Amino acid sequence: MIESIVQIYEESTRRDRANRALETYCSCSAQTIKIPRDVLPQYQKLAEAIRHIESAGEVSRDRLLQEFPELAPHVRLLDQCLANCEDIMTGKKDHLSVLFPEGSLELVADIYQHDPASDYFNGAVAKMISNLQRERQGQMFRILELGAGTGSTTKNVLPLLDPQNSRYTFTDLSLGFTNHGRRIFKQYPFVEFRILNIEQPPPELGGFDVVLATNVLHATHFISTTLRNIRKLLADDGVLIISEVTKLQHFATLTFGLTAGWWLHEDSCRIQYSPLLSGETWKRLLKESSYGTIVTHGTERQQVIVCERGRDT
Ligand SMILES: C[S@@+](CC[C@H](N)C(=O)[O-])C[C@H]1O[C@@H](n2cnc3c(N)ncnc32)[C@H](O)[C@@H]1O
Repeated sequence: MIESIVQIYEESTRRDRANRALETYCSCSAQTIKIPRDVLPQYQKLAEAIRHIESAGEVSRDRLLQEFPELAPHVRLLDQCLANCEDIMTGKKDHLSVLFPEGSLELVADIYQHDPASDYFNGAVAKMISNLQRERQGQMFRILELGAGTGSTTKNVLPLLDPQNSRYTFTDLSLGFTNHGRRIFKQYPFVEFRILNIEQPPPELGGFDVVLATNVLHATHFISTTLRNIRKLLADDGVLIISEVTKLQHFATLTFGLTAGWWLHEDSCRIQYSPLLSGETWKRLLKESSYGTIVTHGTERQQVIVCERGRDT
């Protein structure tokens, strides 16, 4: 059944070239970071990851932006992070004041909202959900979004839903994000907002047709536990849609790696020097957690993984 909701999209070679250029730029920028002696325990994994970044060549900031102006938000965030990285690692500065200056979500939101790769995958996820709703026409369609954050996936999904027959639960770990969601999605009366930590989901919640998580699940301590928690939230014929980066990315290490939350993982299934998982590992863990049919869409670098809840064994 889920094969039919996953449409095949054309891969853009420009997107791949832009990403490669950004990675090269990050790899040479990383060489300028001086790892302090007194790195806080929560940043030891970051320090180790930075030490292992090898320069992959020279790309100047100007040349990068000239060739790929769409990378301006990435470079803006990277500039901030590189300038403050050493102070964050030693606790002289709080990462929140760097990533969210004066409480503004803009610097980070721009990465997700104007990034061609994110736009593409968020659009693909929205289309898949809309296809599934069409397949289940006439019945109330319940969607739970985990770690919805700045709402970059949400804003693609909501306009494609049938407002009469949908119930959308926008959730995040942080009140700041659910309040933000409440403000920017107030024109959609079928959306509710609540705090939810997927590592401790409330037992009364369940029966969802779709659970959706974009770049969230890697941020949990144990992926297998997280996948089992999500399975309990799905209806018998429910579908989990995971959108994740599936390859080590220096850009992510140097930016999101400044948050202690990036390094919470305690299991051994992650790509070395990151909390991310490869596409193959996601599939293996989903199977081990009793999910049913699994279909993936994307590249080695980034994937949307769609899977049925599957039968209880
Ligand atoms: C990288 S952001 C992605 C946000 C959004 N999904 C997007 O693609 O724009 C990760 C989000 O997951 C949330 N998060 C982290 N750990 C979580 C957990 N255990 N349960 C629920 N949300 C979590 C964070 O608060 C953050 O908003």
